[in-house]
Amino acid sequence: MKTIWNNKLNIKNVGEVVTLYGWVSKKRNLGGLIFIDLRDRSGIVQLVIRPENKYYELAETLKNEYVITVSGTVVERESKNEKMATGEIEVEVTELTLLNEALEPPFQITDNTNALEDTRLKYRYLDIRRGEIKEKLETRHKIMLAIRNFLNGEDFLEIETPILCKSTPEGARDYLVPSRVNKGTFYALPQSPQIFKQLLMVGGIEKYFQIAKCFRDEDLRADRQPEFTQVDIEMSFVTEDDVMGLTEKLIAHVFKEVKGVEISLPLQRMKYDDAIKNYGSDKPDLRFDMAIKDVTEAFKSTEIAFIKDALEKNGIINGIVVKDAADKYSRKEIDKCTDFVKTYKATGLIYLKKEAELTGSIAKLLTKEEKENIVDILHLEENDLVFLVVGDYNMVKTSLGALRCKLAKDLGLIKEDDYKLLWVTDFPTFEYSEEEGRFVACHHPFTAPKDEDIEKLLTNKSHCYSKAYDIVINGYEAGGGSIRIHDAKVQEKMFEALELTSDDIEQKFGFFVRALKYGTPPHGGLALGLDRLTMLLTNTENIRDVIAFPKTASASDLMSECPNKVSDDQLKELHIKIEK
Ligand code: AMO
Repeated sequence: MKTIWNNKLNIKNVGEVVTLYGWVSKKRNLGGLIFIDLRDRSGIVQLVIRPENKYYELAETLKNEYVITVSGTVVERESKNEKMATGEIEVEVTELTLLNEALEPPFQITDNTNALEDTRLKYRYLDIRRGEIKEKLETRHKIMLAIRNFLNGEDFLEIETPILCKSTPEGARDYLVPSRVNKGTFYALPQSPQIFKQLLMVGGIEKYFQIAKCFRDEDLRADRQPEFTQVDIEMSFVTEDDVMGLTEKLIAHVFKEVKGVEISLPLQRMKYDDAIKNYGSDKPDLRFDMAIKDVTEAFKSTEIAFIKDALEKNGIINGIVVKDAADKYSRKEIDKCTDFVKTYKATGLIYLKKEAELTGSIAKLLTKEEKENIVDILHLEENDLVFLVVGDYNMVKTSLGALRCKLAKDLGLIKEDDYKLLWVTDFPTFEYSEEEGRFVACHHPFTAPKDEDIEKLLTNKSHCYSKAYDIVINGYEAGGGSIRIHDAKVQEKMFEALELTSDDIEQKFGFFVRALKYGTPPHGGLALGLDRLTMLLTNTENIRDVIAFPKTASASDLMSECPNKVSDDQLKELHIKIEK
């Protein structure tokens, strides 16, 4: 068995005879001497083979990615390479064995590759040989280990829950698996272990966790995969403060263990309504300021028709101030911002620049008093740039919230390795779904309403709030959870509020409501997105970078070419016919 990692060799090993295994990363012939960069999981070490060596001819035939083992003596290098961990030494080869040849790889196995991502995913096993991907997988391992150690120390049990199960409502479409034995019936792959972890609380486990695979058939984005991993946690006899307190200690432990970064606790908390009001998002990125400011008051007597019109329809006018940036934004740049907010349904983008006078798109239409009020409310200083959006509350907040993040990126306001964590709390219980024409659960239907809002479940859905919380890191929703309903009567009321018929309830959740009646302890928990946490700790915005074998945006695996057609016999066994 191999006993030495390449990157462990250094000047202290000079004189030792070592046996190394790995892949040929690079071979050069310099004045008759053959130099080979030997790569293993840990890194690279340089090998030297002299012309008089009996393996010289074999060495000449080696190509990139051939697998070899060598024995030799560690010697100090004449010309040292400070950039390499092993740059002070090299290994004088005395024995060389070729373990396997390799085809020429379709892209070079180097860190800064310009290979297309599709090619890298088709040959993912080669991509994984690159240090960049390997390091991310190593960090993922360290995160999981730190999580397991921490939760074990807090008396949690890691318990697996089924993958073939009944569908759990987390808001996305299910992946279905047909049953061969029970004709015409289906399992669903879990969108999360939500119901099972609650049943474990009914089962008296009290403290549960699982690093769990979840499956959701939803539109994919840079931070979403159809198959992803949650650190799923549930606890009995707890309040919101208890779950948030434990989770933030866990997160701080992970940051410390994996990155050496100290996170100061307790984390800041922000109510959902305030997050939307000030940052236009339920996952505000607090690494930069540019909060959204309400300037509706300054326009209360406006004669600017489109603004007047919007305000009369109960609309608002809000803005963000980009400090000291008026001279950085040309008309062309501003037009790009306008196009950007239009993708968030804004009808337009007003801009103002604080120069000697207030200039900009509507400046000529503003009265002196309005200008003064705007400068006052927004505390404008020379060279500040203001963007305003007018219209209904949600659109105004969402479009400015998104613009705020785009501007911060464009202007380079975000420092690397800066982490801003917070809790967003007090989520609304329901949100109105235009598509379904009814209120749906904002989190999931097992989330407990605030005690004072239980009465509103059936009568005032738009003002009902939940004991739900999300942990937000650098603008990502890194996790979310809630205190659950443990009273079967309240749970039934919730189902009723979601307009489920008693047949629906019995058919979908009968077993669960029954369980709640057998002495269910008060309980709550949350789930962290392990992939997102790893993205944050490895500084990547691409979720595929932190998953060994990820899917593309169209939910396929380019390497194994899946999903794929199956044979007619397989379909027949499953009693399935494909419509042409
Ligand atoms: P939720 O749906 O908020 O809650 O999911 C928890 C966390 O999982 C991550 N996540 C994802 N990561 C990658 N790809 C996806 N498609 C994806 N979807 C979600 C996010 C999110 O914060 N059962 C509840 C938790 C609970 O109430 O305890 C749940 O699944 O980081």
